[in-house]
Amino acid sequence: MPAPAELRIVDTAAELFRTAAHEFVTLASQAVKNKGRFFVALSGGSTPKNLYTLLAGEQAKAVPWDRSYFFFGDERHVPPEHPDSNYRMVNEAMFSKVPVPPGNVFRIHAESDAAVAAQEYEETLRRFFDLQTNQLPRFDLILLGVGPDGHTASIFPVSSAMNETKRLVVANWVEKFKTYRITFTFAVLNHSACTMFLASGADKAGIVHEVLENPNANLPSQKVRPDDGQLVWLVDRPAAALLSR
Ligand code: 6PG
Repeated sequence: MPAPAELRIVDTAAELFRTAAHEFVTLASQAVKNKGRFFVALSGGSTPKNLYTLLAGEQAKAVPWDRSYFFFGDERHVPPEHPDSNYRMVNEAMFSKVPVPPGNVFRIHAESDAAVAAQEYEETLRRFFDLQTNQLPRFDLILLGVGPDGHTASIFPVSSAMNETKRLVVANWVEKFKTYRITFTFAVLNHSACTMFLASGADKAGIVHEVLENPNANLPSQKVRPDDGQLVWLVDRPAAALLSR
């Protein structure tokens, strides 16, 4: 039975990113202490950029970069130098500023055919985690955001990834953007030791309320419930404004 979501409300966006950075460092240090390595899947979008900047800045000395292995929960169907690329955003905000070994960063090769990129990334996961058939990769931390329509990673409300149960990574057609995205599936998102949503700003208040307090909304972000892990919603006060709790 999945554990209930832990809702943590902090007053400001700055506090949200500081808290997220502290959680990141804590989980990384614990993972390295327990098993020698830290496995994390990063979120794209604009919200987490401030977290990545903090990790590359004031927290840089606390992150075990050489023992940390970075994956992406999703990627847009663009080359890595494209302004929309999640990899480009993380590389500019963090990777380019810290001593992370290049071999510790696993980019989704989204410049190629979307289905090929998804298949290749799935094989990368299988190889890296040495997965047997039907086994799932266990991340120590998966960072996620929530879109205005309740999407997370690149699983959108009316998209085939909503019903995917076999694959680890898929090319998901997003009708509203008329494009493919490459994304982890729920199977991977729900197998992590800790999945943390970051939601910041008044424009997220409506969707945060809908996701956390309307059980019948059937939104992608509501289907993220790690079966044997912690689910944390880290929300600043403006984004929590419509919550009844
Ligand atoms: C992406 C993310 C996506 C994002 C939400 C929220 O590739 O954009 O995976 O799921 O987290 O769209 O985006 P913002 O943080 O920009 O609001």
